[in-house]
Amino acid sequence: YNALVSVEQLTNKLVTNLIDRAIAFKSGATTKLTRPVYAMNLFFENSTRTHTSFEMAERKLGMTVLDFNAQASSTSKGETLSDTLKTVQAIGVDVVTVRHPQNDYYQPLLADNRFQMTLVNAGDGSGQHPSQCLLDLMTIFEEFGHFTDLKVVICGDLRHSRVARSNMQVLSQLGAILYFAGPAEWFAPEFAHYGQVVDLERILPEVDVVMLLRIQHERFAADATLSDAAFHTQYGLTIARAAQLKPSAIWLHPAPVNRDVEIATELVEAPQSRIFKQMTNGVFMRMAIIEHLLEQRHLIQH
Ligand code: CP
Repeated sequence: YNALVSVEQLTNKLVTNLIDRAIAFKSGATTKLTRPVYAMNLFFENSTRTHTSFEMAERKLGMTVLDFNAQASSTSKGETLSDTLKTVQAIGVDVVTVRHPQNDYYQPLLADNRFQMTLVNAGDGSGQHPSQCLLDLMTIFEEFGHFTDLKVVICGDLRHSRVARSNMQVLSQLGAILYFAGPAEWFAPEFAHYGQVVDLERILPEVDVVMLLRIQHERFAADATLSDAAFHTQYGLTIARAAQLKPSAIWLHPAPVNRDVEIATELVEAPQSRIFKQMTNGVFMRMAIIEHLLEQRHLIQH
């Protein structure tokens, strides 16, 4: 198959190559397709950044983008994801990005040799978000130039976060030192494999990167968590906590941000925030990901 669905596919060498190529695209590099290539972005969960930046990346690569609206599609009549995608393939689409609430939705597609389109996973439930992980890595690399021994604390709703899961896997593979902070009920036993649970106050003066996560209210019952104000006081990046960080430290958030919950509103666009830079980098990283996959199909001119 020709797909990026999980960070488990990423070797350190591939991460480095994709970051280099994304940085080149950001500096103005271009690429040429060997024939017209058609893309469609199928989002069965809401999105602003990922959807828009995949479309921007596809257009910058010279691809034609066809519109897809999940609510107005025949999935509302019961058509399966597999049949929807095979329909799109039969119509002539070459590349699809898919966001879906079901973890691992892509496994049956990859096992079906009649599914022949290029697939990029744009987020599956609480599973994986590989393009977000790669744009986060690009943003960290632009800042520090390496990953080995960088200290990264991932903070907040870890259990429900595909961003946290993807990032902890690759950052630890790249040699970063990982810490986790937040409510204990949001830790999963698997996290112990990648890092250490810490008290946020204790670790802040040491870390290079604070990776904040959105509280995913849509993935659990409203009464199962702290109030927003209590979360902010106990685990949020407050102005007082930000003041404990090294001047060289940065903070990331995949966004959308719940202002004054995960992060004080004054810190969202503060000098040490890279939140909007992450979004800019997302376009160039998605160009690099799609180009890499199209190269394997000989759809990129050399
Ligand atoms: N970071 C991210 O995935 O944002 P969207 O849900 O807006 O795409």
